[in-house]
Amino acid sequence: MKRQEETLMGWNIIWLFFKLFGLPITFPWLVYHFYNIMQQRRKITALRSKVVMITGASSGLGEALAHTFYRCGCRIILVARREEELERVKNDLINTHQTVPITHPPIVLPLDLTDINNMKDEVSKAIMVHGRIDILINNAGISFRGEVINTNVDVDIKIMLTNYFSQVALSKIVLPFMMEQQSGHIVGISSVQGRIAIPFRSAYAASKHALQAWYDTTRAELFDKNIKFTIVNPGYIKTSLSLNALTGNGKIYGLMDKATENGYQPGYVAECVLKSVLKQEKEVTIAPFTSKAAIVIRTLFPSLFFWIMQKRARKLAKNK
Ligand SMILES: NC(=O)c1ccc[n+]([C@@H]2O[C@H](COP(=O)([O-])OP(=O)(O)OC[C@H]3O[C@@H](n4cnc5c(N)ncnc54)[C@H](OP(=O)(O)O)[C@@H]3O)[C@@H](O)[C@H]2O)c1
Repeated sequence: MKRQEETLMGWNIIWLFFKLFGLPITFPWLVYHFYNIMQQRRKITALRSKVVMITGASSGLGEALAHTFYRCGCRIILVARREEELERVKNDLINTHQTVPITHPPIVLPLDLTDINNMKDEVSKAIMVHGRIDILINNAGISFRGEVINTNVDVDIKIMLTNYFSQVALSKIVLPFMMEQQSGHIVGISSVQGRIAIPFRSAYAASKHALQAWYDTTRAELFDKNIKFTIVNPGYIKTSLSLNALTGNGKIYGLMDKATENGYQPGYVAECVLKSVLKQEKEVTIAPFTSKAAIVIRTLFPSLFFWIMQKRARKLAKNK
């Protein structure tokens, strides 16, 4: 039913275009549109058998990414701490996509990514199973809820370690393999909060801003080595992120935020990530108009942005 609705909507858009602009514009637009679809299909076929390592694959966006890339015929390496959840995802992948012509059994790699000095051997062994790594999706992360003034610095460090240093460390393990292959693609899942910082999210926003800088630098340095870097800035996604968030004293927040509850479906965001990989985009923001507008305001009218955030901080503090 959903597919029929989508098809109907597609025809309605074509009809509207035709009524507004007539055949001379509608026809070239249609040709361009179908050319794009064909290009995308060709690129998806080229993804077959690529080795894709996905961190944070035991739930939420990581799990959805695993389904999206597995469906394209990729050889998936699933990384997270909870082995039983990774096994569940592995079995789901195998059972859900039985009609996909060519699939490969996913590899489960249980790993605490904050253990940055001890993960090289495990990661290298997993890569050597297929003898290469084509795409690394640095997706694992935790969020934060709390006031700067009441936040233990250990919490700041833990968020930074999980969201920033672990991505840097894992990328540095993977990069030599990619350099030797002379190809590769590293995708960093950041956030809209990697572009704008909002009150009561200090550690999270700081870690995502740091990622942005690291990807921009590394992309430029490795441009000539045929290694691509994409940074993805999603808005709210309906996952367990807020449930697993840390508070200022290091305890688990444990609440499903309304914004998260009403966020994008993980499957939708995963499809957008796939498209950005196929197009080799350097940066993509998957967010509603208001979030994108906030990024523009922060860039062009910083004083206005700071004033809005002051108001927001005061309002949120009052409502506590
Ligand atoms: N949900 C949103 O609204 C939203 C918005 C923008 C960006 N994002 C970003 O999207 C990414 C995925 O988050 P999500 O929304 O899917 O939340 P989620 O469901 O809580 O998933 C987080 C994942 O990260 C893994 N993880 C956390 N700490 C880890 C560690 N130390 N070592 C290895 N794996 C670890 C978790 O697995 P284990 O617990 O099994 O280790 C889990 O698979 C994050 O980077 C987040 O910042 C989310």
